[in-house]
Amino acid sequence: MRYSEAIAEAPPGWTHFSLADYDRLQPDYHRRFENWIPGGELRRARQGDAAAGERLRKALFWTFVYEFEPERWDELSRAEPIHPGVLAALSVDGKRVLEIGAGSGRLTQHLAERAAEITAVEPSSGLCRLLASRVPRADIKVQFAEVMSIPDGWADLSVSCSAFGPEEEILRELERCTRKGGTIAFISPRELEWFAERGWEVARFDPAEVQIPPHDPALERFFGPIKPPSDLAWRQV
Ligand SMILES: C[S@@+](CC[C@H](N)C(=O)[O-])C[C@H]1O[C@@H](n2cnc3c(N)ncnc32)[C@H](O)[C@@H]1O
Repeated sequence: MRYSEAIAEAPPGWTHFSLADYDRLQPDYHRRFENWIPGGELRRARQGDAAAGERLRKALFWTFVYEFEPERWDELSRAEPIHPGVLAALSVDGKRVLEIGAGSGRLTQHLAERAAEITAVEPSSGLCRLLASRVPRADIKVQFAEVMSIPDGWADLSVSCSAFGPEEEILRELERCTRKGGTIAFISPRELEWFAERGWEVARFDPAEVQIPPHDPALERFFGPIKPPSDLAWRQV
């Protein structure tokens, strides 16, 4: 996702975060954002350019949530269950499953019930803590998915939920980690049409069919409308 797109799509809760939160991020994140944040933007924001500061806080909204408010993300993820049709369409039984961007385990908990082995990759240590308590069976790796410590061809199924779009580095790494004949699947990826246009199988379910659990209305004031993951794109390696 481009910097400008992240700004345009920032939920109302972005005002909750400050510029100082950028400095609180781990150096790994600073390195990653170096080429993503436009040149001079951070300097202008630090010098008091209010518009630049606002753009930065909006663009980094989700990273701030995952890193500094993992419980708040967890609350949202519990209020947005994955469409049961998506879960049923995934071939998980008895498989070695790799999940990337696992968050606090919304998908992982379902995978762990059916997989022979489950490895979950997630860079936020706060989310990994929640994930470990929710899915003790999962082998959790605190890593970014662009470069993972997973052997070549390890997974029968590599999957992620609401975490990625068609990012080249991620797709390449998933191909490396998935065995020939195995499956790569994205639940509600950004740019679903990108996958459809390139021959991936695509299934879309009706989000209105998902039973939304009762939740605090403050959640939607912070994150915007509830959107349960309901799309699936997959292909064989
Ligand atoms: C919208 S959350 C989805 C979490 C979980 N998959 C779910 O559906 O509940 C996106 C997750 O992707 C993780 N993430 C973001 N960038 C990542 C990267 N480069 N590699 C691995 N995980 C990443 C975030 O830390 C966050 O946990």
